[in-house]
Amino acid sequence: MFRAGGGEGDVKVTTERGIRREVLGALALAGMCLMLVAAAHGQAGQAAPAASGTKPVMSDQFFKNVQVLKGIPVDQFLGTMGFIAASLSVNCTECHLAAGRGLIRDYAADTPKKQKARQMMLMVKAINQANFGGAHRVTCWTCHRSDTQPPETPSLAVQNGAVPDRDPNDIEVPDEPIPSPTADQILDKYIQALGGAERLAGITSLTAKGTYAGFDTNLDKVPVEVYAKFPGQSTTIVHRSEKAENITTYDGRNAWIAMTNTILPVKPLTGGELDGAQLDAEMFFPAGIKKYLRDWRVGFPPTSVDDHLVQVVQATAPGGSRVKLFFDTKSGLLVRVARFADTTLGFNPSQVDYSDYRDLAGVKVPFHWTLTWTDGRSEFDMTDVQPNVPIDAARFGESVLPKAATP
Ligand code: HEC
Ligand code: HEC
Repeated sequence: MFRAGGGEGDVKVTTERGIRREVLGALALAGMCLMLVAAAHGQAGQAAPAASGTKPVMSDQFFKNVQVLKGIPVDQFLGTMGFIAASLSVNCTECHLAAGRGLIRDYAADTPKKQKARQMMLMVKAINQANFGGAHRVTCWTCHRSDTQPPETPSLAVQNGAVPDRDPNDIEVPDEPIPSPTADQILDKYIQALGGAERLAGITSLTAKGTYAGFDTNLDKVPVEVYAKFPGQSTTIVHRSEKAENITTYDGRNAWIAMTNTILPVKPLTGGELDGAQLDAEMFFPAGIKKYLRDWRVGFPPTSVDDHLVQVVQATAPGGSRVKLFFDTKSGLLVRVARFADTTLGFNPSQVDYSDYRDLAGVKVPFHWTLTWTDGRSEFDMTDVQPNVPIDAARFGESVLPKAATP
């Protein structure tokens, strides 16, 4: 997935900047990993199974040596790999050998660390089943926290050191909720800040051109096209090179990510990934947000994102994923959406950070957004945004996917 957002927050949340930077470096490598997996697959001469329609491809059908994470869609399997890598702050090659520099990786081959990780998956499952009714309460992150060797002794240095800032994505409503405006009030202020419900309703489509930079382009800026149509349809096409594209599309019901030279050239999205794609599409037309998300909650402690004091509102997406929205307390504008997609082992966080709001046909539209997820980060900068241009229905969904991969 190339669409997740906003890592400056991550950098800020720790006082150990050096360490954090190393972590981000590792994550960058993890992103590259995903690309290379694909290449390896291609070189092995294996045709990807048909990934068409809503039928997800299952992990144990597609991969060769799956013993624990069986019977889950491939997008969730790879999401779980991202979750593990992020929990230990290692890149894919830590457990999957033949590392780096264009060598073909054999992800199916077992290594001692991979076997250890399998054992840990079973341990975590047993702990949760025995103690937490099977909920993902204890995860790889609970112990590892970016460390391959979790410490067992309380640290006197930590005990007496400065308290690090808390990641704003982590904050929760305390038992005694903090007095706050209601979710309705915060959302109304947001709609107002954007230009008001009436003007927002006047925009029913958007097309945009701009640039994209991500780990998969070595942070080089490449052209991107964005199409969005009310209600909740969107397609993003990143032209990584003459021959390689990343396409994310949501047609109102189903979503796909297609990436040239990857493990699954066309990946139908399921579960939390599908929720994420829908959420991104809906956020192009924010007036509908109150109806689209449910179970609104407020009462979070005060926190800030990029030095802006924010109000946090939590909600649930149609597929059940938890979502946190961060609104600038002063301007009322949305600065971050964090979502938590369930994987077999825990919740995979991803976030979109919105900024550079500009006036377009009387409403405010973010011209910059950053997608951050466990394996990477991508920056989107729009240069030319056009409201209410007719967009052909064929711009959304299966019809935009590469022909070769759709039977
Ligand atoms: C801490 C160890 C660890 C890390 C790090 C890790 N994996 Fe894995 N990986 C595993 C384990 C364990 C399995 C086997 C899972 C099972 O048996 O259910 C696996 C299996 C796989 C497979 C299936 C291979 C096959 O054909 O059977 C792929 C593909 C894969 N991993 C990709 C990745 C990618 C991409 C990354 C980096 C984002 C990654 N892994 C990071 C432990 C790891
Ligand atoms: C209850 C705490 C706990 C949880 C939860 C946990 N681990 Fe561990 N893990 C440890 C400890 C402790 C070690 C070090 C063991 C040792 O020294 O032999 C370890 C070691 C490892 C190692 C070997 C690292 C190395 O470089 O030697 C891997 C890989 C690993 N864990 C993966 C995972 C994965 C994947 C998960 C989630 C499925 C997970 N662990 C969850 C406690 C935990």
